[in-house]
Amino acid sequence: MEPTSQQETAHSSVLTLHVNGTPHTLTLDHRTTLLDALREQVGLTGAKKGCDHGQCGACTVLVDGRRANSCLLLAAAHNGAHVTTVEGLADGERLHPVQQAFVARDALQCGYCTPGQICSAVGMLAEAAEGHPSYVTPPEHPPGAPAALTAHEIRERMSGNLCRCGAYPNIVDAIGEVAT
Ligand code: FES
Ligand code: FES
Repeated sequence: MEPTSQQETAHSSVLTLHVNGTPHTLTLDHRTTLLDALREQVGLTGAKKGCDHGQCGACTVLVDGRRANSCLLLAAAHNGAHVTTVEGLADGERLHPVQQAFVARDALQCGYCTPGQICSAVGMLAEAAEGHPSYVTPPEHPPGAPAALTAHEIRERMSGNLCRCGAYPNIVDAIGEVAT
């Protein structure tokens, strides 16, 4: 029988990723990262490859609602996962509030880090609303209560997303605008 693109081998698996609400069944080498699967197999290049080592955050996407560095995830370990990339944040022509704030606050220069910054901010806002503390959350903060997103908190919680252009002040302002 002729091999098909959906056949598994010793080095590859067939898996389904739900990306921005659309299922994609792919045959992937076991070494394929989620970032490479998104960019090269699904065809969504919003998530960027900056370092490919988990150090810059340019590849940040939401996996089952939680932000993650997609360059550090093996796609084969996420069969059935629901992934949201920057392409999936807008509601039709209407930008996500974080996207709108980045535009309004001019929170970018070259834009390479921006998809990761925006996905990370969306995940971070949900984490804060759920009451997850950060390293700088005061110890007296009631457990489980939504965290107040001061500029200090935003900087700490976004510290995994680097911007080589140094657009940090406007990034913090943009996220702060959505948080209030
Ligand atoms: S490309 Fe993933 S953290 Fe830099
Ligand atoms: S806007 Fe250029 S790296 Fe952030």
